[in-house]
Amino acid sequence: MALSPGWRAFALLPGTHCGVFRKAPRSSCLSSFPWGHCPWRGTGSSLDPEMKAFLEENTEVTSSGSLTPEIRLRLLTPRCKFWWERADLWPHSDPYWAIYWPGGQALSRYLLDNPDVVRGKSVLDLGSGCGATAIAAKMSRACRILANDIDPIAGVAITLNCELNQLNPFPILTKNVLDLEQDKWDLIVLGDMFYDEDLADSLHRWLKGCFWTHRTQVLIGDPGRPQFRGHSIQHQLHKVVEYSLPEATRQENNGLTTSTVWEFQP
Ligand SMILES: C[S@@+](CC[C@H](N)C(=O)[O-])C[C@H]1O[C@@H](n2cnc3c(N)ncnc32)[C@H](O)[C@@H]1O
Repeated sequence: MALSPGWRAFALLPGTHCGVFRKAPRSSCLSSFPWGHCPWRGTGSSLDPEMKAFLEENTEVTSSGSLTPEIRLRLLTPRCKFWWERADLWPHSDPYWAIYWPGGQALSRYLLDNPDVVRGKSVLDLGSGCGATAIAAKMSRACRILANDIDPIAGVAITLNCELNQLNPFPILTKNVLDLEQDKWDLIVLGDMFYDEDLADSLHRWLKGCFWTHRTQVLIGDPGRPQFRGHSIQHQLHKVVEYSLPEATRQENNGLTTSTVWEFQP
């Protein structure tokens, strides 16, 4: 199925056209470190009712077409009004949280199939988007989870997606952790975060700090985006597993056919 011209810009070309990403607000902070004091923590009752209603009206609950049919998510699908509308009619920042990206799908599949990787561990999902990988970590019994995304609306989406999967919401942080000193995590997961060269450079620097300071394990999910394949981080990766993408994800991602989980080993 073809995407509408408006959504094609962000759904098919993440990072290829940096402007699409840069126009979104990037610094709003709904909570502060340490993550234990996050206002999103708890039942989700603190959600802005208007934003919650907007998301419920303009997304569809789905569990099909991804690598993890056991996770239900509110996503933008062809049955949603804004799938077909001009992108400039969307009243908020670009809704990356409304897509379940191939990199995140691979990571989530891996965590669900290999619960030992997260069981009893503290996990940071950096660039959480819809929150699926953090949800997979929770389902596989991670003991502490922080979902981090600089888009505050992602925080609302993640909370709704936790509820959909009958999970107590975990803390969500919308501050840019790349501006902060590295905290101690057992595992950091990043799904489809290497879509922009500058962001990739910042992530690489920051992740090296996590590894050398705390020996944090770092797993990256990526479907082979040029900004990732061409980055110097390639020399410090170990391939963990590669998945063949479902047809629906292939169609939405312009010919990408696989998605791989890499371990960062500087
Ligand atoms: C392509 S989406 C991937 C979302 C999710 N990980 C997945 O795989 O479905 C990238 C996400 O990273 C977020 N993001 C971009 N820069 C960030 C940063 N410095 N810190 C945290 N999140 C960031 C965006 O808001 C967006 O939700």
